[in-house]
Amino acid sequence: MPQQRTKRIKTTITVNGETQEVEIEVPDIEAAWGDPANMRWLGKRIPRVDGADKVTGRAKYTYDIQLPGMLYAKILRSPYPHARIRSIDASEAEKLPGVKAVITDLTREVNYVGEEVAAVAAVSEEIARDALKRIKVDYEPLPFVVDPETAREPSAPRVTQQGNVRGGNPQERGDVDSALSRSDVVVHEATYSVPPRSHCCLEPHGLVCQWQGDKLIAWASTQGIFSVRDELAGALGIPQGNVRVICEHMGGGFGSKFGAGVEGVLCARLAKMANAPVKLMLEREEEQLASGYGPGVTAKVKIAATRDGQLIAWDSETHGTGGLWGSASVPLPYIYPVANVRTRHFDISTNIGASAALRAPGHPQASFIMESAMDDLAHKLGIDPLEFRLKNDPNRVRQAEYRLGAERIGWQRRNRVAGEGRGTVRRGLGMASAVWGGGGGAGSRPTVRIAPDGSVEVRLGTQDLGTGTRTYVAAIVAEELGLDVKQVKALIGDTDYGYSGASGGSTTAASVAPAVKMAAMGAKERLLAAVSQRLQANPANIVLADGKVIARNGVERSLTWKQACALLGKEGIEVQGEWNPNLQGSGVAGCQFAEVEVDTETGKVRVVKIVAVQDCGLVINQLAVESQVYGGVIQGLAMALHEQRLYDEQTGRMLNPNLEEYKLPGSLDMPEIDVVLYDNPTGRVSGVGEPPVIPTAAAIGNAVFNAIGKRVHSLPITPAKVLEALGKV
Ligand code: MOS
Repeated sequence: MPQQRTKRIKTTITVNGETQEVEIEVPDIEAAWGDPANMRWLGKRIPRVDGADKVTGRAKYTYDIQLPGMLYAKILRSPYPHARIRSIDASEAEKLPGVKAVITDLTREVNYVGEEVAAVAAVSEEIARDALKRIKVDYEPLPFVVDPETAREPSAPRVTQQGNVRGGNPQERGDVDSALSRSDVVVHEATYSVPPRSHCCLEPHGLVCQWQGDKLIAWASTQGIFSVRDELAGALGIPQGNVRVICEHMGGGFGSKFGAGVEGVLCARLAKMANAPVKLMLEREEEQLASGYGPGVTAKVKIAATRDGQLIAWDSETHGTGGLWGSASVPLPYIYPVANVRTRHFDISTNIGASAALRAPGHPQASFIMESAMDDLAHKLGIDPLEFRLKNDPNRVRQAEYRLGAERIGWQRRNRVAGEGRGTVRRGLGMASAVWGGGGGAGSRPTVRIAPDGSVEVRLGTQDLGTGTRTYVAAIVAEELGLDVKQVKALIGDTDYGYSGASGGSTTAASVAPAVKMAAMGAKERLLAAVSQRLQANPANIVLADGKVIARNGVERSLTWKQACALLGKEGIEVQGEWNPNLQGSGVAGCQFAEVEVDTETGKVRVVKIVAVQDCGLVINQLAVESQVYGGVIQGLAMALHEQRLYDEQTGRMLNPNLEEYKLPGSLDMPEIDVVLYDNPTGRVSGVGEPPVIPTAAAIGNAVFNAIGKRVHSLPITPAKVLEALGKV
């Protein structure tokens, strides 16, 4: 048996309900996850443990929860972008047979179309909808503005007491003005913009709430069962311990599902009033109007480099709107270090509702601005855009990734001079880069239980957004105990299990995996101690593999897993684990290359291929990581060519609050997606949910430029904008 380096660490474990400080021997931390080559599960392609449940419909999402006597709730929403509510008369709604509860005390002023005004619970969705129509609201419409450009004007209606424009303090380092005026420097100046975009979660926001006395059970489609618990407890004025939140499966959040939301509190209140369980799931239009969006941003940019291609100055003024108080700021300059920098950002208040975090908040926007400017400047300098990045990016991982990606896409096939191709349909290649953290944090408290009958369970109050959390939780325990993944039951998505944080910022894997590993190691230690006498071997000479417990102590003795567990006594083993920072790392890198085809007669862009090179430290489940990269690329492609929230300035309404006119790509729009997982042998786990969405839109925009030699400065790159860039309209 290869001797593994070990060391002793102090940790708290809970054994059979009792918490103790213990010192345990663990594999040396640098090698703690071990060599992926020697692993049975980790780093391999592990099918989702709940895959069959999902495809057969056995998996219960919040939408699928049906309880006896359950009522259905609907929300009445403001048709005005800004109005005072003089009065609400719900008496006709209350009289309607089947209506069980009505709430009208929400607000006296609404600030966007779709803001919650009242709510009802009734025995059917139809009756609840009918009831909404019978609620009479007397609105006093007030001045409003939905377009940030209009809102900036001094003559625009003031939508807050403080005025419409916030921020604008310049951040400066170095000496931008003198760098820009140097004679050996080439300056490029342009404006780039990204519109506000919707999350479009497949499963809408919503909850099912059921009271049992003064205790509340809430099934919620959420990225944070504990954050929903805390929000509900706070809003309802009850102890956190009286709220249990369950989310076994959920259909996407992308940053918009951290809290209970107004709908969550309404659902719980209606259930209390009606003394019956209530289901409140938003409809698609409500999703678009009132569940947040990623803010748009417009950037006026000056970027400069020396003639030999060294970036030297960045000067940008950005503005955007996140509703009344939200921020639309983005990190600029992005990715590439610049010595002389000046940035100014203005947040504009508008009546479009509050923005929400959206997958790598601010980064895809920053990437489109920065990478478009980089490409335009490279063009002006007569330098290959990739060479320009190689020259200005000090990140060693990305330096390697650039070369890998260039080879996979066939970078030498690009147009040397943008737009030099001939014919109606022109091909082009472009690229862009990504950066992200992906590290974890302390707090997760998983418990691993081994029962005397050999069954194994791991419990943790984390949630699986669809990224595959449940699968790696089971796989880590299976790896440690030498079992099949199917032998480990992973119980997650319930606040009755040990605490874990919300899933945001791609932090879940790096927070959860180390804690689960520590719990599994603790359980293994105890199991080895329990069987060592029977096997007449020191625990250090016993291994767990292939469902067996094997002692190699001169002669080889082994027990089956079941035989070994039978030695555990009635209580079995129960060990709690805590996060270990040495098992995770942060700072992931990536880059993407796009190949497009642009029809110069119709203006239509077809993405032919995306090569996505991504690092995420130690890969726990290759299949799941690839799936995250596919998802990121698809969402990035949608941003590049399709997505935009449109508002009518006259009425303040969103014009496309659906999934018909709010465009998303379909299967026929999909390119070939070549996922390359860059092998960064850190031996530490990092998250990968967000980084692959960052560079896609910029890479596609740059490929379009390479194809036609003209820049489309604003997303999405629609046929109309392409034709305009070509001077054809
Ligand atoms: Mo994310 S935008 O932190 O879900």
